[in-house]
Amino acid sequence: MKAGGNAIDAAVATHFALAVVHPSAGNLGGGGFLVYRNQQGQNFTLDFREKAPVAATRDMYLDSAGTVIPNMAWLGIHASGVPSSVDGMVTMHQRFGRLPWKQVLQPAIDLATNGVILTENEAKGLNRIKGDLLKFNPGKTYFLKPDSTEWQTSERLIQTDLANTLRRIQEQGRDGFYKGQTAALLVKEMAPAKAPISQRDLDEYHSAWREAVVGSYRGHKVISMPPTSSGGIALVQLLKFVEPYPLGKWGWYSDSTTQVMIEAERRVYADRARWLGDPDFFKVPQKQLVDSQYIQKRWQDFSFAQASDSKAINGGQIAGYESNETTHYSVVDEEGNAAAITTTINNGYGSRVMVGGAGFLMNDEMEDFAVKPGVPNVFGLVGNEANAVQPGKRMLSSMTPTILEKDGKLFMVVGTPGGSTIITSVFQTILNVIDHGMTMQQAVNALKFHHQWLPDKTTFEQGAFSEKTLQKLIERGYVMEMQKGTLGRMDCILVLPDGTLEGASDPRGDNTSVGF
Ligand code: DON
Repeated sequence: MKAGGNAIDAAVATHFALAVVHPSAGNLGGGGFLVYRNQQGQNFTLDFREKAPVAATRDMYLDSAGTVIPNMAWLGIHASGVPSSVDGMVTMHQRFGRLPWKQVLQPAIDLATNGVILTENEAKGLNRIKGDLLKFNPGKTYFLKPDSTEWQTSERLIQTDLANTLRRIQEQGRDGFYKGQTAALLVKEMAPAKAPISQRDLDEYHSAWREAVVGSYRGHKVISMPPTSSGGIALVQLLKFVEPYPLGKWGWYSDSTTQVMIEAERRVYADRARWLGDPDFFKVPQKQLVDSQYIQKRWQDFSFAQASDSKAINGGQIAGYESNETTHYSVVDEEGNAAAITTTINNGYGSRVMVGGAGFLMNDEMEDFAVKPGVPNVFGLVGNEANAVQPGKRMLSSMTPTILEKDGKLFMVVGTPGGSTIITSVFQTILNVIDHGMTMQQAVNALKFHHQWLPDKTTFEQGAFSEKTLQKLIERGYVMEMQKGTLGRMDCILVLPDGTLEGASDPRGDNTSVGF
């Protein structure tokens, strides 16, 4: 932005830089979503989610007895969808970027060529996956030290093959990845897969501009991601469920506030499992799901006296219906253009398969399909027909890049990684600001909790609730389980009343906010 770029230039530059400095989630081999609001207040969303290869089949992750083959959809060669981030970046830059493409790519190339100084988290992460790297990449030396010792904090990681791949993308744009040398290396690497990614898959991949999901909450306009992500619809549903209640008055994480939020989450994730999938393949009843009457009906069996039972909830009846690693960045530029991007290779370090000669990790996004109806994936999420594997179909996501307006002006830009917990972390962060009057940083720091219908339990970060609140919830039949790890790594921006920006980055990760 200092060089005259706008929010999209900065977002694209950040994406490619993250592909170098944050290999567990930043990527060339993954996909994601953009929610963009320009200074005139128009909104746009770009779906650059991966697709199943054309060779994919519905039961490809099942054995002959119809049982899910453990780990097949998320570890190793069979786990990858067609990478789509590079197409996404090219597409958004062509439409909205201002600086020359070559200039936007240069910082990432410099980082890969000159090396990155590893943070403690990145060093630990690389040490943690060393076994998988050796197992899934015989003969390759990516992310391994020449003397095969462990990585230490502050050591320098140089990625020469990745720098060369980035140079091809810099020189040739989309073709630098989807054609020529990079494409040939990728196709060769994927050849042994059950549904190999072919040159045809690469040629046919195109990101899709989609109409944003737009909702409202206490006078704010909420602009979020439509399917193929479940995030926007789920978020708008959650906000509608809780809006009638005085959460601010009841207090942050009081028993009543928590109860209303958990019960909303239970119903929303049940709908997600039943009704959400790639709209190019499955008729998602988008309008009905956020309809106020439908929401009211879904709330009829709510009671403060007793927890609802997930077994009795299920996805709602739609009238007249026919038929932990991701990364997020938020950008606002001087003119007020705002971009929220969440991108992923799914689990940390994706499938753990490196494309030989090209120096990047492949995604394990196929795991986000419901590989067998009703069988939970690594995030414990279940799904059905709507999200079954089909050739060329996008797998359902929970990523929820979101922008809020107040009085017609930009108000907040939010998003986070966290698999199935993304939706609830974004939800809580918004409530923390709007209902509980927190600053952006307080809202990000605040301890989080999560319920996703199934399994029927609420997980929470240590210290999120007082003993008294916990006791009351347990008495009403809630299963409350303290998480070992943390929830969310939010990167958000709030526009303050005087027009200045408050950037907030999550202390749970290596996150940073910068302004100029
Ligand atoms: O698209 C999704 O919902 C998942 N692939 C996101 C994975 C994720 O956030 C893992 N991170 N912690």
